[in-house]
Amino acid sequence: MPVVNYRSEADVVVLEIDHPPVNALSLAVREGLLAGLKQAGADAAVKAIVIAGANGTFPAGADINEFASGLVLKSPITREVQAQMEATSKPVVAAIAGTALGGGFELALACHWRIAANSAKVGLPEVKLGLIPGAGGTQRFTRLAGPEAALDAITSGTHILASRALELGLVDALADDVVAEAIAFARRAAQENRPLRIVSDLADKITGVKANLFAEFRGKIQAKARGQLAPFRIIDSIQAACTQPKDEAFRIEREFFLECRNSPQRKALVHVFFAEREARKIPDVPADVKPLPIRKAVVIGAGTMGGGIAMNFANAGIPVDLLELSREALDRGLGLIQKNYAGSVTRGSLTQGRVDQALSLIKGITDYEAVAGADIVVEAVFEDMKVKQEVFGKLDRVAAPHAILATNTSTLDIDAIAAATARPEKVVGTHFFSPANVMKLLENVRGKRTAPQTIATVMALGKTLSKVVVLAGNCDGFIGNRMLQFYTGEAEFLLEEGATPEQIDRVSEGFGFAMGPLAVRDLAGNDVGFMIRKGRRIPADERWSPILQRLVEQGRLGQKTGKGFYRYEGRTRIPDPEVLSLIEGVSRELGIKRREIADQEILERLLHPLVNEGAKIVDEGIAIRASDIDVVYVNGYGFPAYKGGPMYWGEEIGLAKVVETMRRLAPSHGTRWRPAPLLERLAASGEGWSSVRSG
Ligand code: COA
Repeated sequence: MPVVNYRSEADVVVLEIDHPPVNALSLAVREGLLAGLKQAGADAAVKAIVIAGANGTFPAGADINEFASGLVLKSPITREVQAQMEATSKPVVAAIAGTALGGGFELALACHWRIAANSAKVGLPEVKLGLIPGAGGTQRFTRLAGPEAALDAITSGTHILASRALELGLVDALADDVVAEAIAFARRAAQENRPLRIVSDLADKITGVKANLFAEFRGKIQAKARGQLAPFRIIDSIQAACTQPKDEAFRIEREFFLECRNSPQRKALVHVFFAEREARKIPDVPADVKPLPIRKAVVIGAGTMGGGIAMNFANAGIPVDLLELSREALDRGLGLIQKNYAGSVTRGSLTQGRVDQALSLIKGITDYEAVAGADIVVEAVFEDMKVKQEVFGKLDRVAAPHAILATNTSTLDIDAIAAATARPEKVVGTHFFSPANVMKLLENVRGKRTAPQTIATVMALGKTLSKVVVLAGNCDGFIGNRMLQFYTGEAEFLLEEGATPEQIDRVSEGFGFAMGPLAVRDLAGNDVGFMIRKGRRIPADERWSPILQRLVEQGRLGQKTGKGFYRYEGRTRIPDPEVLSLIEGVSRELGIKRREIADQEILERLLHPLVNEGAKIVDEGIAIRASDIDVVYVNGYGFPAYKGGPMYWGEEIGLAKVVETMRRLAPSHGTRWRPAPLLERLAASGEGWSSVRSG
């Protein structure tokens, strides 16, 4: 089967790329395009050429598998195909449907004109894979839309709606039947002998650019792109488009592309890309188990969490009732939702129209009877087993027999919650992260008796709600919070031994975490953290540091009381000598002689417990595969995606080295530093995480 179909529509040739699932520009596609362009160019009966994609989409990028292999790409590379397009004397028009991304959009940018379907999206998302566009993307985008638009779009990697692409000058027209319109457009261009528009020769948008534009933009993204290579190379490359001769600017882009392609950040981000897709696959839930359609949802509890979850449903177009028994609490919850949406409009992330649409789907209710109409009920009440069991008992009586009963618990036993119902096969955990309308992760949790169809439904639901979804088994804290206790716990032991909160957070943030562990504690509330810790089971020979409890006793609950591990002015954290003396007091009580702790030790002490507990989680089958843990940590806990997640990090430094470090630290730091059996096995055999998976 050819991957590029050559089809004649009278005097216009359509080169249709047919390489499912997303028509990625693999070697066979590039060869097919080059051959098709040459054939059409040489045929005097052909007056114009249209490039289109089968399977409802223009190519969504270069073939990630191909460049991830680390091998040099085989000729023809995309640049050679583009050179052939620009060299042909006949109009070449792109017919863009679906998503034209990355190398796919770069291909379209090298056509003389572009017609996009009204529903299409375009973009250069390479930055999300640690790359810069390597086939002239930074050059041609800038020449069509100008450097300001290019900087914003390419450093963020956002998908651009067709209507916006038209405004920016990236496409030339919109159409419903994009291939028919592209054929007509190409034919007209040929008949009118229109001068061919070589995008790489356009110069008006790149002349007279403000001299400090690039320095200012570097400053603007500094905080967000901290530690990353690709965003800054994209800026350099766009700057080259505006300041260097064309050939030199293209050469610079290529050089930076190769630098990024060979970087460890690219490797880690590609790992995350595939890990996120792999996480959706559940070995014992085959693809033929059909998810239940979710047409109506009810969320129980209108607190911050419940409100955020309701927003998720509404944003996805699913009507949702928000239930709260007291009218007052309900009004407060609905008010919070409105405030959140108003914020999105102010920031420009949602239009007023979209917000009105979403709000029209959210209804407040105070009566359990309304639950009968729901396909899924998500409980988000107080984190207490008794309260949850009572709610589930009630839900079981009023919900439709087919309805799924989901709990948003972040730590509690799903089986114990399911036991309050006569339908444990319909009970499942859907652990959203706070703020639920912002955070990407959905950690679904299966109980002992959760049915395959229930699992399939909440996995599919995650995709509908635009979440990154992972399935965990039922244990104390599931994947994410079970590991977290060892990470934050270790931070507090480091405080006892001599570190300061600001040193620990600086090291963690220097590594790339969005926020250090103690700053996160202050944000989430130390009282909440302490309450969860009290419910935790730990081995008899282990202990927690008393520091957290002392802070709570002193009313230092975190940001909400203006004091926690830090003192706060607004949201700015300021080191507080009072906290330091509290910590020093604890060290004295415990007979610990405080010492200077090197940053390297802090990093080691924070990360190893994550890898070690992760290994136990994989060994017990709580995570299906180690890469699921990486997905959880990158999307739910601020672990830098460009370092691949904790398990990937451990494998990169070497599992044998991880074991060696743990053994070195175990004698002085307790049994929690004993390497997990799976880690020891893998270290001994030299195998990696991919050799282990459950199901
Ligand atoms: N190369 C190779 N495989 C790709 C790919 C690419 N550029 N883009 C997607 N795929 C594969 C996915 O791995 C997945 O495979 P699987 O079904 O075996 O798991 C399949 O195509 C479908 O992708 P998925 O992301 O699950 O579908 P979606 O409908 O949610 O999203 C896209 C489609 C195109 C928006 C999304 O896949 C995407 O963003 N792709 C990457 C685009 C990109 O970064 N391009 C630049 C590369 S240089």
